[in-house]
Amino acid sequence: MPKPRLIIDCDPGHDDAIALILAHRHAEVTGITTVSGNAPLDATTANALMVTALLGADTPVHRGAAKPLVGEPAHAAAVHGESGLGGVARIAHQRRAASDDAVGFLLDAADEALWVVAVGPLTNLALALERDPAWGRRLAGISIMGGSTDIGNVTRVAEFNIFADPEAAARVFDCGARLTMCGLNLTRQLRSDDALAERLRRTDSPLAQFAAQSFDDLHDRLEGLTGVREAALHDPCAVLAITHPELMETHPQAVSVELNGDFTRGMTVVDRRPRPPGGNAARPGADVPNVNVAHSIDAQAAMAVVAKALGVENDA
Ligand code: RIB
Ligand code: CA
Repeated sequence: MPKPRLIIDCDPGHDDAIALILAHRHAEVTGITTVSGNAPLDATTANALMVTALLGADTPVHRGAAKPLVGEPAHAAAVHGESGLGGVARIAHQRRAASDDAVGFLLDAADEALWVVAVGPLTNLALALERDPAWGRRLAGISIMGGSTDIGNVTRVAEFNIFADPEAAARVFDCGARLTMCGLNLTRQLRSDDALAERLRRTDSPLAQFAAQSFDDLHDRLEGLTGVREAALHDPCAVLAITHPELMETHPQAVSVELNGDFTRGMTVVDRRPRPPGGNAARPGADVPNVNVAHSIDAQAAMAVVAKALGVENDA
């Protein structure tokens, strides 16, 4: 089975970094595009470059949007620190961004065998659609870490990647591409803990040591925020949806992004009503499913894939 070919649009971010490593193990990563999100664009781009240096991969990194379509940038320093990778040791390297034109790279790279895995705010993808409304439909599909079928993590109902640029998210969800959504309802089923960090610490490789430090840093912050030394592996789920689809259960559902609600802006409004056997035809005017929404993951098998990709042996 040939490896899927993909571009990752990201805002590293600890979990973005793990997703980049996982993707390089199980896919042909033709490029990385960066966006402002967990941290400002300069930081997310620097972090993406550092991960490619750690991997020894010559994957081009293209800088993208420094702010959302509307309003000012939102960041997640409480979780990811000002640097986007908290206090994780920096690795010296000579990597430089390939361009400042992530959108042009996404447009030029599009073909029917290319997936885009979007694990940050969707600004770059929306700007690509602004220049070519058919862009999404020219791809194999888009796997999104974003949204939720139930609760949010920024507000009661909004998840960070969608909340950070709701107008962009609405444009992507309405673009007609083949979409998979790995929302918080799914990603919180795949959790890292100190046992994983310890197994990585005992693994003699720079990549495993980087991952161990990343989990320690993330767990320290989350312990302060939640009282629990665990982290949902949000972004790796969007990679697994493409590289290991057999580990997930998805359902086609209608999903819209709320833009105007005083309490609900940035919410992914998922139609979870049971669909009559006859499909929508039996209920005229019903919302037509536009997204494959992920609802469950085989967390044990998925964690074994992630751990092995990070260098831990005998975990598969
Ligand atoms: O809500 C989780 C998402 O926001 C993840 O992509 C994480 O990296 C942050 O960007
Ligand atoms: Ca992210």
